[in-house]
Amino acid sequence: MSMLIIDQKKCAQDGLCAADCPMGIIHFEGKGHFPEIAAANEAACIRCGHCVAVCPHGALDHSEVPLASCTALDEALVISSAQADQFLRSRRSIRQFKNKPVERTTMQRLIETARYAPSASNARLVEWLVIDDRQRLEAISAKVIDWMGSLLQDPKATVMPYYQVLVNAWDAGVDSILRSAPCLVTAMAKGPESVRLIDVTLALSYLELAAPKYGLGTCWAGLLQGAMLANPALKQAVGIPRDYPYHFPLMIGYSKVRYYRLPERKPPVIHWG
Ligand SMILES: Cc1cc2nc3c(=O)[nH]c(=O)nc-3n(C[C@H](O)[C@H](O)[C@H](O)COP(=O)(O)O)c2cc1C
Ligand code: SF4
Repeated sequence: MSMLIIDQKKCAQDGLCAADCPMGIIHFEGKGHFPEIAAANEAACIRCGHCVAVCPHGALDHSEVPLASCTALDEALVISSAQADQFLRSRRSIRQFKNKPVERTTMQRLIETARYAPSASNARLVEWLVIDDRQRLEAISAKVIDWMGSLLQDPKATVMPYYQVLVNAWDAGVDSILRSAPCLVTAMAKGPESVRLIDVTLALSYLELAAPKYGLGTCWAGLLQGAMLANPALKQAVGIPRDYPYHFPLMIGYSKVRYYRLPERKPPVIHWG
């Protein structure tokens, strides 16, 4: 059976599917013909579903991206440019979390949304590690602080200027590593292609942008990430397997604070080519 199933009554023979296929494997001769994929080219399909999505007639089905599973776009839900602008600009890094767990069903839904992020060659190799045990998270922060403390004692070690501040805060009862977040979600991918780190980052960005719809806030755990990269024992303590070289952790929880303004950012530096 061919990968493409064309409803010949609906197909307008406009070639939209062939023109939009990123792999250029849909052959379309022109009016009077129907699109097709040569059997020899089927292996090159990345299952992106563009051929199904771009057809305005619903005439094209794909054996691995079924038309029935591709939800029709609801024009009524398309957001205005002002809504999009405020939505994107109102994303904030949350550093004060309520002492309230994140329900696993909610995390599951967020991860489901994050799988719609772009992915190099549509490979979708990002996996997730969710830690929602506060004691474990505290223990991870403590390990990072211990590691920073040991570096501060070592005159030969390269130490970031803020390590002492973080250790002092910890001693005063403040967790500046994971901000006492109730949950840590790590996106991770196996090697070898380094492009997977971009997939990881994009998946987390999607998750972060989707979080507010459940009243949740997030913060990229860069201090933990830096510590894990410098000290593999910390990566092991978090539970990221060694054969997953690409990863990034994100704190997530219910925010204690609301923001009423959109802080301005530096203007972009653009080099036109
Ligand atoms: C890191 C990265 C690199 C990509 N490089 C290319 C590329 O060189 N050419 C291309 O046509 N698409 C590229 N893409 C787009 C992916 O193929 C695309 O995200 C995937 O097929 C899913 O389709 P969608 O983004 O329309 O959902 C890239 C995506 C990512 C995340
Ligand atoms: S799923 Fe994507 S790559 Fe495969 S035939 Fe359709 S458009 Fe081309």
